[in-house]
This record gives sequence, C-alpha cells and structure tokens, in this order.
Amino acid sequence: MTKARHIISGRILTFDDAPLSSPEAQAARLTHGCVLVEDGLIAAVGDRASIALAAPDARIEDRGEDIIAPGFVDCHNHYPQTRIIASWGKRLIDWLNGYTFPEEMRFGDPAYAGAVAADYLDLLIANGITSASAYCTIHPESADALFTAAERRGMRMTAGKVMMDRNAPDRLRDDPRSAYDLSKALIERWAGRGRLTYAVSPRFAPTSTPEQLEAAGALWAEHPDLPMQTHLSEQPEEIAWMKELFPHDEDYLAVYERYGLCGPGAIMGHAIHLTNRERTSLQATGAGVAHCPTSNSFIGSGLCDVAGLARADVSIGLATDVGGGSSFSMLTTMKAAYEIGQLRGQSLSPAFLWRLATEGSARVMRQDRFIGRIAPGMEADLIALDTKATPVLAQRAARAQSASDLLFALMILGDDRAVAECWIGGKAQKGGG
Ligand code: GUN
Ligand code: ZN
Repeated sequence: MTKARHIISGRILTFDDAPLSSPEAQAARLTHGCVLVEDGLIAAVGDRASIALAAPDARIEDRGEDIIAPGFVDCHNHYPQTRIIASWGKRLIDWLNGYTFPEEMRFGDPAYAGAVAADYLDLLIANGITSASAYCTIHPESADALFTAAERRGMRMTAGKVMMDRNAPDRLRDDPRSAYDLSKALIERWAGRGRLTYAVSPRFAPTSTPEQLEAAGALWAEHPDLPMQTHLSEQPEEIAWMKELFPHDEDYLAVYERYGLCGPGAIMGHAIHLTNRERTSLQATGAGVAHCPTSNSFIGSGLCDVAGLARADVSIGLATDVGGGSSFSMLTTMKAAYEIGQLRGQSLSPAFLWRLATEGSARVMRQDRFIGRIAPGMEADLIALDTKATPVLAQRAARAQSASDLLFALMILGDDRAVAECWIGGKAQKGGG
C-alpha cells in the first residue's frame, strides 16, 4: 500500500538535549528545512534536497519563513470551565463555589457537554495546542463527550472524570464506590483507544473523603501506566483547609502519598507553596508538576519556584489551567511564566520555557514517546508560527538576534494570531495542505 505522505518546509525548531534541570543551559535552533510526514508520523527531518530525494513524489507545503514547531502540550486544564474563563474577583475557594461548581453542574447533559467539548477543542487547535490533559466533571457523560470529540479530530488527548464526594454541592458529588466504578468503566471504554488516554482524576484533597482517595489510589494501582492528575498546594487558604481536614498528615503531599496518589505519572497542578520535604519527595517519587502561571496570577495564588523545582530535578510541564487560567494561548502562558520568574528574580530562558510547553508537558503526561519534539518517529503534531502576524511582532521579529531572541519575542508578543497552521497527526486543521 502506498503511504500517505507530504512535506512541510519552513524554519524547523529544535532544541539541544540539555536536561531541563539546568534552566540556563538551554539552546534553541532554527534551521531552514523540511519535515517529511508519513501516515501521521514524522518520517524524516532534513534539508530540502535530501528530503525531496527521499520522497520525490510527495507534495510540498512551503511555509516560507514560518517557524515549524512541535504542537503545544497543555498538561493541566478544565474543559468544563471554557464558558467561565475570565470570571472576576474571587480567590480559589470562592471562585470554585461561585463560578465553577454552578457551571460544572450542567455537564450531566450530553448535548451541553458535547457543545462545550467541541468549542474547547477548537480553541486548543486555534492556539496550536495539539494535546492536553483535561479534567472533566463528575459526570461520565462529560468524559464521553470530550473523548468522542477528540477522537473525531484525531487528537492525542488525556482526560478523566473528576472524583469528588465532599465540600461540593449535592449534584456535584459522587461517592467512593461510584467514583471508582464509573472511572473504571471509562478507562475500559477509552484508555488506549487510538490516541486517547485516561487520567485518574481526584479533584483535590479537600473535595474527597479519605475513603474516596483510597478508592482513587486503588484504581490507579490497578492501572499504573495511566497518569493521575490532581491539585497540590495552590493557595494558602486551601492549604489551611486541607490541614483541618487531614490533621494527621505532615503536609499536603503526604495526604496523596498516604493514599498511593504520588509517583511516576502523577500530574500535580500548581505546586506553589511547597515544603522542602514535598519538593524532595516529588523528585524522589518521579511525580510531575503542571505549572499554571496565568492561573496563579489571575486567582492570586502565588509565585511558583519553577527554577528551584527544575534544579531539584522535578519533572515540570506548562499548563493553561483554563478557566482559572486566563488564556488558551501557550505563548501567553509562557509569557506569564517568564513574568512570574522575573518577580522571583529568575530570568527563565526562552528555550527552557518553550521546552516546558512541549516536551516538558509531554513527559509529565507520559506521552513523550509520541509527542513534544520534532524528530523521526514522533507523531506529526506540528504548528507553523508566523512571526509577522501582527505589526508589533513583525517589527520586533525583524530585529531578532538569534533563535532564542525570536522565540522570546513570539512568546511575549504573540497569541493565536501567530499560529498560522496546526497539523494533528499530519492533517492540517486551518486550511493548509
Ligand atoms: N483546585 C481544585 N479544583 C480546581 C480548579 O478547578 N481550578 C483550580 N485552579 N484549582 C482547583
Ligand atoms: Zn486546575
């Protein structure tokens, strides 16, 4: 059978292999060249002559000076919060009670869930996010709606039904047994189907009883290759509340550890206000952190010590945390991460931030064998970035001194207007070839 193949040409973005644990030692490269896409995978990367020789019959999509980059990977967001993004004036617990929970109640309706899932995935694609780890609501219908919509688009998506059995309205609570059973049924239906993955998703310690956390830990132990996602140490009020609810545990992470909810494949959202013990334990157990900078400033949560976590060799990814996060743009999210670094006296390098938004997130989600880099064998989730997308970006890009400088201008000045094309499994989503 002949293979479906085509060539994308432009300025190809790659990075050195320096470990992410040294944030300063990161370098980016932009090389005029071609990516050969074959049956949804990257078959080869090289200069135009050698790729054309390898695939003389392949159609060439010439993106000129566009940057060809790996699709962004958002390792923590909430698709049911799409409609309440940009809600004013509250801190975490009031924000959950005042905006989030009333909206999440609507997701037992498959038609509503389906409509929001479609809009949410369209927004991801418009922003060049080709893969994400999403929370659904407690309703299995919400997970079915998202997985169905993602499958239709061929996206590599991770998602899970939220487990939540206390400190939430009646209609938004499951119980330890039903949370286990419904999550298990969803795992059987969706995990490993095509490009879909299931994440065991206890929302956070304050909204689960010890019995439910135990059930979540048991479920994860039965499916140890799946990711597990939850929230950790986001706001001081939340931490004080957690201490009242779990007075016998020495810190927040200890609660999750007690119930088997920490280890490789754990995606800990936020992780801002950590003790040294927690930081050490995240590294030692191989758990990952989803850094959510627009959310952390928008809800007033605090300044995550990203450089400290990286130096401690904790695995980190970058996340929008929509709708606590205030933007679907990973460029804007990188900008926010940079600004939070500056407020901490850390100048995070453009290459480091970009790697967090691609391979870092993919690693935290355990998807780095498939996505996050441009290299032969990886899936062809790619984006084309137009450095002339807006007047202010165009004039600044013309002055760029290096690949890193250009990436920096893009993340500070760019948004979805700079995402000129997005390929999912090699298929153009915005009308290109
Ligand atoms: N902690 C528990 N649930 C949530 C949520 O939906 N958003 C954020 N930002 N933090 C949480
Ligand atoms: Zn979140």
